[in-house]
Amino acid sequence: MINLIPKPKFVEEKFGEFVINGETTLYADDNLTFARDSLNAFVEETCGYKLPVVVSKQAGIAFVYDRHIHKEGYTLSADVDNVVIKASSEAGAFYAVQSLRQLTRGDLIENAEFLTLHAVYIEDEPRYNVRSIMLDEARHFFGMDVVKNLLDMMAYHKLNTLHWHLTDNEGWRIEIKKYPLLTEVGAIRKGTQTMAWGNQCIDWTLHEGYYTQQEIKEIVQYAERLNITIIPEIDMPAHFGAAIAAYPWLSCRDVEMDVPIIHGGTPEKNGIGHVIACTGKESTFRFIYDVLDEVCALFPGPYVHIGGDEAPKGEWKKCPHCQKVIEEMGLKDEENLQGYFNNKIAVYLKRKGKRMIGWNEILTSKKLDNSIIAEYWTHKRDMKVENYLLSGHDVILAKHQAFYLDMTYAQNNLKTTYEFEPEKYNITAGLKGILGLEGAVWTEWISTEERLNFQLYPRLQAVSEVAWTPKENRNYKDFMERLKKYLPILDRYDVVYCPLSMVNQGGLKKLSTINEFNKRNAHAEYNRAMSIRKRKKYRV
Ligand code: ACM
Ligand code: ZN
Repeated sequence: MINLIPKPKFVEEKFGEFVINGETTLYADDNLTFARDSLNAFVEETCGYKLPVVVSKQAGIAFVYDRHIHKEGYTLSADVDNVVIKASSEAGAFYAVQSLRQLTRGDLIENAEFLTLHAVYIEDEPRYNVRSIMLDEARHFFGMDVVKNLLDMMAYHKLNTLHWHLTDNEGWRIEIKKYPLLTEVGAIRKGTQTMAWGNQCIDWTLHEGYYTQQEIKEIVQYAERLNITIIPEIDMPAHFGAAIAAYPWLSCRDVEMDVPIIHGGTPEKNGIGHVIACTGKESTFRFIYDVLDEVCALFPGPYVHIGGDEAPKGEWKKCPHCQKVIEEMGLKDEENLQGYFNNKIAVYLKRKGKRMIGWNEILTSKKLDNSIIAEYWTHKRDMKVENYLLSGHDVILAKHQAFYLDMTYAQNNLKTTYEFEPEKYNITAGLKGILGLEGAVWTEWISTEERLNFQLYPRLQAVSEVAWTPKENRNYKDFMERLKKYLPILDRYDVVYCPLSMVNQGGLKKLSTINEFNKRNAHAEYNRAMSIRKRKKYRV
């Protein structure tokens, strides 16, 4: 059985085996040498030697340029005598190397004398162009190593986008040179609500951290080598508390406040309804443009995310600046004031060669700029997203039920993630506007890499297969069979994951876990899983 996650588009098993040993020669056409070197680094790691690089296509393993292949696709033909990989880009050839890694199971072998590869012919290319994971570092800051580890795992599964949620109420995590207080003030909070949405228990430990621009550049470069584009997110006009704590003039009433320690998607309910940028003041736009100038200079990718979700409008209703703009621009209401705001930012970004992304709430206003991409997250059906697609616009799907990986497995189980199809959520038209899919990890209740990994794995593997593999090739039972053979690789790298006995809980257990998560203890499922892991470890 060919054990690959994500499953390729086409696989034909052949007879025999190819053996990679110290005498296997390696060749690459000029524009595929990065992939060649990446394969050689893998061989060196597992076998302790490098393969000799030659200039003849008759090599044991050859990377050959073929312009007809999809830009992220490849073909891999392994016979007893040689292996030929064809691709039209480094990205596709790099993905062939990831497949080779999984096929040889080299990640499981230490000091191997040789690696073997079952003879096979594979034709592969992705279903969606955007295959994304969102990491929230505003609620908890993890740092360079954790991000690099995640990027490595993403690349191994042919995921090509990291949506990096860098700012929110609870923290601002990116250095902006023109506004130093964003990190001097906005990156530090005095405590954290730690237990659950319905439990306001506070841990009064200082939580702080941010990325310098130099570190951001290092991460962007690291990601680029793994064929991963980073979409930075600067959430606005709401989820803006850390910025307002640093610069009170960004709010309607110059509110003096600390960086919020209580989590909550709808701040009005939590008594922090003033945490929204004033869209009536020119100074707010100047600030945002300045921030975006620095952000765009750091991230070479085509997209910038501005959030735009969960914006309470109470402050705007009372603000003379905001009301003046509504009147002067002939806007119907505060919703359309947000639309006006979004359009100004979208046009600004467009002039800088970027497309703006916002969560689907941005569609509540009329007359949006056509360049805007909506990201559909809400649990509830949003006809506006369906209409947006129908009228030829672009959308990324991160539906809560399937793709919110911070939820318990009891609530968003592995099978639901794996069996995601747009049609199941009433998305039946304008399908070519679906740029891709995203698994999102919000981190209100996640403060360590172990916990982060527990939420991610093995749901990340499911996301990768939904985003890569054609619908007709996907089958949950078959996925689980491959996953079982795959999990030792996570063990080998000491990556925590949810035990398979817990990935699809039903019945009373499901209901009580969800209730516990929301009301009392968001860590209960994780703690149970960790005790199962411990018991397994000590069992003889
Ligand atoms: C979101 O979860 N507020 C996008
Ligand atoms: Zn205002």
